Amino acid sequence: MSKIDGSVVFVTGANRGIGRAFVEEFLAAGASKVYAGARNTDSLSDLVEYGAGKVVPVEVDVTKPDTIEAASTAGKDVTILINNAGVAGFQALVSASDGNSARGEMETNFFGTLNMVRSFAPALASNGGGAIANISSIAAYVNFPALGSYSASKAAVHSLTQGIRSELAKQGTLVVGVYPGPVDTDLAADVPMDKVSPNEVAKNVLNAIEDGTEDVFPDPVSIEMREALLADPKAVERQAGEMMPA
Ligand SMILES: NC(=O)c1ccc[n+]([C@@H]2O[C@H](COP(=O)([O-])OP(=O)(O)OC[C@H]3O[C@@H](n4cnc5c(N)ncnc54)[C@H](OP(=O)(O)O)[C@@H]3O)[C@@H](O)[C@H]2O)c1
Repeated sequence: MSKIDGSVVFVTGANRGIGRAFVEEFLAAGASKVYAGARNTDSLSDLVEYGAGKVVPVEVDVTKPDTIEAASTAGKDVTILINNAGVAGFQALVSASDGNSARGEMETNFFGTLNMVRSFAPALASNGGGAIANISSIAAYVNFPALGSYSASKAAVHSLTQGIRSELAKQGTLVVGVYPGPVDTDLAADVPMDKVSPNEVAKNVLNAIEDGTEDVFPDPVSIEMREALLADPKAVERQAGEMMPA
């Protein structure tokens, strides 16, 4: 459980999509400062203006440890870390047309998240524990063959989330795993399904941080899939293969 009002937040991939929605929702809920992390800080100019002094642009590429180190040095007052930056190559595992996509997804989605957690954990400890939210995906729980390597990278993020939850419990850090279905952003532009708004996802994560909820299924598709997985995981595995075949 961690308070949003008066919090100091760091969001990766803050320039668009769900990351931008996090910045907006934290400001609306009373965060005192939001560090907006982006690979290109020029892409944050309107968000910085919108934040009226509360949004601090920070250059961070989660695959580049030197930028993360600089970000964590600047953000020693952080109480909530949102690991949102992610990529999806929409590649199958066996028949991938881009063989490098799987490695790129692991570098950003898994190692990027791990790099951020390692760098920011000491600041969170000094500031009373705070919270980390990792944006995984419902694809962490069941592999969609059309995005097979992305699904695997998000399963790795889920496992990381479980592991750091135990490790960081002793410093009082709440660790939240977020498992969205399709969200209306650039990443899912070609996904032919109903999509939830990025702000709805962000709001649900803020509520979870306030309540101390560890696992967040923030939209109707993820809630339905979660229930189906609990009832019959093999049936969901088969359906995912039919829904999004390689
Ligand atoms: N949209 C969905 O349906 C959906 C569903 C489940 C989970 N998610 C997850 O939600 C998160 C946000 O996705 P989104 O839908 O908002 O996607 P998006 O609109 O494509 O935005 C992705 C963000 O991540 C940033 N990013 C990518 N690689 C980075 C790196 N190496 N270092 C720092 N930032 C990097 C991008 O920055 P640039 O602008 O510089 O590229 C961008 O800000 C991702 O982790 C994604 O896997 C999305």
